Amino acid sequence: MAEPRPRVWVSQPLYGDIEGRLDEWFEVRRTPEVTDHAPEAIAAGLADADGALVTLNDRIGAAEVAGAPRLRAIANVGVGYNNLDVEALAARGIVATNTPDVLTETTADFGFALMMAAARRITEAERWLRGGHWQGWGFHQLLGADIHGSTLGILGMGRIGQGVARRARGFGMRVLYHNRSRLPEAVERDCAATRVERDVLFAEADHLVLVLPYSAANHHIVDAAALAKMKPGATLTNIARGGLVDEDALADALQAGRLAAAGLDVFEGEPAVNPRLLGCRNVVLTPHIASASLSTRRAMVSLAVDNLVAALGFGPDAGRPPSVVTPPAGSAAPRGQ
Ligand code: GLV
Repeated sequence: MAEPRPRVWVSQPLYGDIEGRLDEWFEVRRTPEVTDHAPEAIAAGLADADGALVTLNDRIGAAEVAGAPRLRAIANVGVGYNNLDVEALAARGIVATNTPDVLTETTADFGFALMMAAARRITEAERWLRGGHWQGWGFHQLLGADIHGSTLGILGMGRIGQGVARRARGFGMRVLYHNRSRLPEAVERDCAATRVERDVLFAEADHLVLVLPYSAANHHIVDAAALAKMKPGATLTNIARGGLVDEDALADALQAGRLAAAGLDVFEGEPAVNPRLLGCRNVVLTPHIASASLSTRRAMVSLAVDNLVAALGFGPDAGRPPSVVTPPAGSAAPRGQ
């Protein structure tokens, strides 16, 4: 008798022509509609699965995998994976993967656009115009902060941070970054970027962009004390994770006019947005869409499928998924991050 095919759970509807490739190897259980799964529903989805394709909304830790004895792989469609408790998964020998690289340029484009929109007050100006306030061209109307010739500070100089830095060259910006460790000289040269200590970054940046992965260790890394170090009139852009910023402290700084503006694509309590931020005129708010171009979202699904197929031991990369974030307990160090 033929071996039963491994079972895979797909937690959200994705692109059928891409994730449909899973049918070649697996028995696939799909979720027909976009669903905000409760933890019990995730546990039920995983219960008889060998693998799962999940998105950033699906939070998976020890409790969700406790009743899933066959589970061997979770492929996250996203580069950030703070929705996964990778230590709990590794302890169970479950491989977790993410989707780096394919979204780098799209996300960097968006980060740059959000920074510019905040600095040049683009959405505020549009709201004002649509509100019928424009009575004629005015010399002093809606003055913003320049991008060209200013100092860009990048906190977290991974692939996306480097993409933002490369864009800044075209605007004649001076680029400073802070990372735990210094980048190779050739990369620094390519990005025309200089590493500085974190306090110097806060103090020198006219426009600070957050692009670092979230972890418990950097929760509220931008708090009232950090904001107080920033230049009066600076801007803050966050395309990483909401938990990096103390949103009440940011609202204080924006309302007091200490910061000129902020551009936020991510929020601590997503999809809820801190009502104080909603009340600030000088903040551009977008619903976590930095990687949201059709071709990039399709590429993310494709890479996640490749990861899952390989992690479950099939396809050309069998046993060697392209982007592992946590290996089975006791095996080699993570690759791909
Ligand atoms: C989006 O936020 C991602 O991590 O892919």
